[in-house]
Amino acid sequence: MPSLLPKTPQFFQLHHIEDQALATEAAAGLLAASAWASPKFFYDALGSRLFDAITELAEYYPTRTEAGIFTAHGAEIGAAALKLTGTAPALVDLGAGNCAKAARLFGWLQPRRYVAVDISVDFLRHSLHGLQREHPQVDMVGVGLDFSTQLRLPPDVLAGQPALVFYPGSSIGNFAPDDALRLLRQAREAAAGGALLIGVDLLKPPALLQAAYDDDLGVTAAFNLNLLKHLNRLLGANFDLRQWQHVAVFNAAQSRVEMHLQARLATTVRWPGAERSFAAGERVHTENSYKWTTEGFAALLRDAGFGSLQHWTDPQRWFGVFLAAG
Ligand code: AVJ
Repeated sequence: MPSLLPKTPQFFQLHHIEDQALATEAAAGLLAASAWASPKFFYDALGSRLFDAITELAEYYPTRTEAGIFTAHGAEIGAAALKLTGTAPALVDLGAGNCAKAARLFGWLQPRRYVAVDISVDFLRHSLHGLQREHPQVDMVGVGLDFSTQLRLPPDVLAGQPALVFYPGSSIGNFAPDDALRLLRQAREAAAGGALLIGVDLLKPPALLQAAYDDDLGVTAAFNLNLLKHLNRLLGANFDLRQWQHVAVFNAAQSRVEMHLQARLATTVRWPGAERSFAAGERVHTENSYKWTTEGFAALLRDAGFGSLQHWTDPQRWFGVFLAAG
């Protein structure tokens, strides 16, 4: 008998990220010969807001360009996806955050079930409850999982039905090609015979890339520097932000924008149990953002096992949306 009660989202936290494990990881990066910090350390509460501000900057084209592709071609993309998954698929949203991008697909896909995956299930709680009110007929599941190391959904969450896995925003760009390949293979497994819908930033003239990661208001600089505040809290370290400078460079050989924090003067950073000295000009590498060609990304998807590919782009060919299946 169908329940008359309104649906409520279901939540799983698969991976409680211990602050201690994160602190150990952060310290290891800072102590490496070439110091580095994972881009996941950008996203404390303020960092997530700064990223939202970045997406509003004139220089930061990816978010609005991807949205434009969905505005222009959403109906066609939705119809193509349903051909691959069958009607009313499960929609799996990787890095769902505020769930806004996936919510835009609901009209076209009419999903039976929506599985929002994010590193923090707490962040999803609020978004999913709001979305559930707007879409009372959809089963909603929030999964707290750091899928950057491994993408494995709770066993019954898809009930073996083909799914559409959605990974927008060129988040795949944070992964070096080998790691991207591994994640795409896992996404293919997770789709269980369905499809992957993924947004990828494309290679373009270096001046445009450079400006997107070094805007004139300094929002990206603040986003990058905020990582040091986060590490100060996480480690009990004493980074003095005034001693550090935001650096964004396009590395053509590796086809990636790199972000670094560069010491203005020689400085020593201390935290309980350790310290690290930096020479003037020495850097902490904080992010890689890989830029793909359409052909290169198609080849990567084929390597990951996808036999059927379709893609859409904007008139300037700045961003690609790929639908991959098979
Ligand atoms: C969220 C990883 C897609 O690489 O463009 C924005 C993060 N870094 N500005 C990107 C980011 C600096 C963003 N991704």
